[in-house]
Order: sequence, then structure tokens, then C-alpha cells
Amino acid sequence: MGSRAAASRAASLISVLAATAVALVGLAAPAQAAEPVLRDLASAKGIYYGTAVTGSKLSGTYGSITGAQFDSITPANEMKWGSVEPTRGTFNWAGADRVVDFAEANGQQVRGHTLVWHSQMPNWLANGNFSNTELRTIMTDHVTTEVTRYRGRIHHWDVVNEPLNEDGTMRTSKFYTQLGESYIADAFRAARAADPAAKLYINDYNTDGTGPKSNAMYSLVQRLKAQGVPIDGVGFQGHLILGQVPSTLRANLQRFADLGVEVAITELDIRIALPASDAELAQQKAEYNAVTSACLAVTRCAGVTVWGFTDSDSWIPDVFPGQGAATPYDESFRPKPAYYGIAEALGWTDDGGDPGDPGDPGDPGPTTGCAVSYAVQSQWNTGFTANVTVRNTGSTALNGWTLRWTWPSGQSVTQAWNATVTQSGAQATAVNAAHNAAIPAGGSANFGFNGAWSGGNTAPSAFTLNGAACATS
Ligand code: XIL
Repeated sequence: MGSRAAASRAASLISVLAATAVALVGLAAPAQAAEPVLRDLASAKGIYYGTAVTGSKLSGTYGSITGAQFDSITPANEMKWGSVEPTRGTFNWAGADRVVDFAEANGQQVRGHTLVWHSQMPNWLANGNFSNTELRTIMTDHVTTEVTRYRGRIHHWDVVNEPLNEDGTMRTSKFYTQLGESYIADAFRAARAADPAAKLYINDYNTDGTGPKSNAMYSLVQRLKAQGVPIDGVGFQGHLILGQVPSTLRANLQRFADLGVEVAITELDIRIALPASDAELAQQKAEYNAVTSACLAVTRCAGVTVWGFTDSDSWIPDVFPGQGAATPYDESFRPKPAYYGIAEALGWTDDGGDPGDPGDPGDPGPTTGCAVSYAVQSQWNTGFTANVTVRNTGSTALNGWTLRWTWPSGQSVTQAWNATVTQSGAQATAVNAAHNAAIPAGGSANFGFNGAWSGGNTAPSAFTLNGAACATS
């Protein structure tokens, strides 16, 4: 509590200054004066609210919103090894400097990201052949050089990023393969020596809820602490999928906090299969709210960072084709329901009129909707096997469901599993099994069947779920 209260006091001094800036930039930004200011709400609760930024975009509306709404920023790429030392011994600090300068001009903290990572390494490093001793020196020199350059100006450093595989084993990066686990301790020691004031973090993805990878991170942090390695925090990236926010998030953050380290959500985004429906955006609001609330519920949670605040500056569509709409603002910098979900978690109450907010004009309200994906998995001369996934894209849970479709070319169902399927004329009716009767908002149920065909086996083009039309994919 003590450190959070102190942080809160310090932040409130800054926010007095920032409030002036907000008032000025508010005129230029689409956000209306009455809209909540996330950084003020967060600092009143003793946490920070941050965003990843692209340094070259920090002007105009993008810069205004970044400065007005967030009290921490993370360079999305500018501090990575490949950015700062593209050629061995030749440093380019311009991009990183721009982000740090912007932060200081706007009373913001900086999360330094990231010093030792298997990805986005310069080619000379990734492809170079170095003895183990040489590689260890190259790594610790890099940490020392970069941390020293920004000494006293970085609040958190992601010293080591993504050290683990999904199954909890150590990722076989160049560093691990040549140096073993001790590369982690060495990187942290070099960082501490270069800037004793920065909080030093280890950071990874798919460790947000409990599971093998998160358990492995937990053991790793225990080992590092037992060895006296100067580690202060654990970052949980929080690259999440709509409908799949881990229910164990808060408990997982708490068990790490109980090891005596800070925790933070460092790269939050919640991706949606495009195009995102109003119901999905409403669900995303609830999920941004839940993640923010989980941090607030854990005393040692320092803050939350979104990985890009606008859909126009998100890595998701590039890396996960067909998915997006993952951030709190749309591509035109308009706040989405998710933004209000964050604000409400931080204690803001609606003053009316904010699009998408409960009871306001843009509020989608309780909605129903479904999406079906139908796939023929195998087909032989007169028969086939099909798999059907039905997703509840509405905002309320279903308890019992009936999916109907009409066969376009005379097919019939002969045997089904995970649902009871009957047929009358060309119409097939699938009713849930007991174990998949409940479909939460954003959740899905799956069933399969064998069918008979002759002449053609065209997929059904229209489905209804509990009487309402479904989208198909
Ligand atoms: C991403 C950036 O956002 C992209 O611009 C870049 O092309 C790839 O890296 N985990 C991390 C971040 O720790 O550094 C990644 O950032 C996203 C996944």
C-alpha cells in the first residue's frame, strides 16, 4: 500500500500540470471535454495507465490523446536492440530519445522495452558467431549502454522479454542456447548497476492466467529471487482474445505479488475477428473493465499498459490476419466502448451522452447474435463428416440452444455427436447436448455429424440460432 500511495501522491502533482495540458489539447482531439481522463482516474487509484506508442506519430491528434489520457508510455519498437544498434557499434538513439522526450514534456513515465529478447535483434547479432564468453559480454555491454543512456529517466525496464515456451520450458533463444539460464541473472545485474532507480521487470505473454507457462514463470522468479538477482517486477503482456480473458487473471497476479515483486499488465489488447459487431465491442468493454479491475484488486499491481491505444496503431491486423479492433479507440481516434470500460473500472461514472456507454445513445444494450462456422472435414462417395462451431456473439449468456439450417442440395444427417440432430424435409435441427447447453457471451459450442449426399454437397448458407439469423464464416 505504501508505495502505491506514494506513487499516487507523486502522480497527482504531475496530473495538476497535465490537467492544464489536457484542457488545451482537448480542443483539438475528438474526445469531448466531459470525457474521462484515464491518467487522472488511474493516479487517483494509485496505478498508472499507459500505452505503447509509435514515436514518429507523436503529434497531431495521436500525440494529443497520448499526452492527455496516459501517464506512462512504452516505445513499441524504438528501444529494441535492432532499432538502437542496427550495425555493431553504431547507435541510433533518435527514435528512443523522441519517446523519452515526449514523456517528460507530458509528465509521463516510460516503460523501457526491451533489452534482451530473441526477436527484433540486429542481424549482426542474430547471425553472428560468437564464443559464449564473447556473447555474454556483448549482452551485458548492451544492457549497460542502453540503461546508462536513459539512467534516471526510465520507470520500468523490461530487462528480459519472452524467455519461456508455451509448455513452460526455457525458450531456446541464442542467449539461452549459448549461455544457459544464467543469461537472465547477468542481464538483471547489469541493468541494476547501470540504473539503480529503475524497476527491473521480466515480461512474457500467455502467462496471464495460471497454466504451465505461468507456473514456469513463477518458478523462474522464485529461483532468481533465491539467487539474489535484482528483479523487481513481472510483466504480463495481456495479448488477449475476445471471450478468452483468463478467469484466473487476478489470482495469478496475486500469487506473483506474494513473491514480493511488483506486477503489471504491460501490453494489453483484446482482439476480435473482423468485422467486430456492436455486441462484440460491448463484450470487449466488459473485458477491458475486468482486466483493469484485476490490476486494481492486487496491491502490488503497478499499472496497465495498452499495446497501442488506437486501432490505427495496433500490431494485431499485421500479425493475426482477419483479427483486429483490439484497442480502446477506433481508427479515427473515437473512443470505443472499451475506453469507457477502462474508465468505469477506474471509478468513473457516466455523465450521460457518451457513445456506447450504458444507457447512452450508442449503447448496444443487451444484444443477441451468433456466428456459425461449418466445415466438411472429410467426404467420400456418398457420405461426409462435418464439424459445426456456433458462437454466441450476443452480450448475454445462452442456456440451451437450437441451431437450424436448410440443406441446399438434398443432404441428410445420419448420425451426430455433441448435439441431437433431427431432419424434416430439407431442414435440419440441432439441439444442444447437456454438456454444451450453456454458451456464455463470446463463447462457443461445437458439434459434429455424419451426413449422406448425392449429386452435390454444397454447404448450408444460412443458420438460425434460437430463431435469430447467424453470420457464417
Ligand atoms: C510488436 C510491435 O508492436 C510491432 O510494431 C513489431 O512489428 C513487432 O513487435 N510482444 C512484445 C512486443 O513484447 O515487443 C511486440 O511488439 C508485441 C508482442
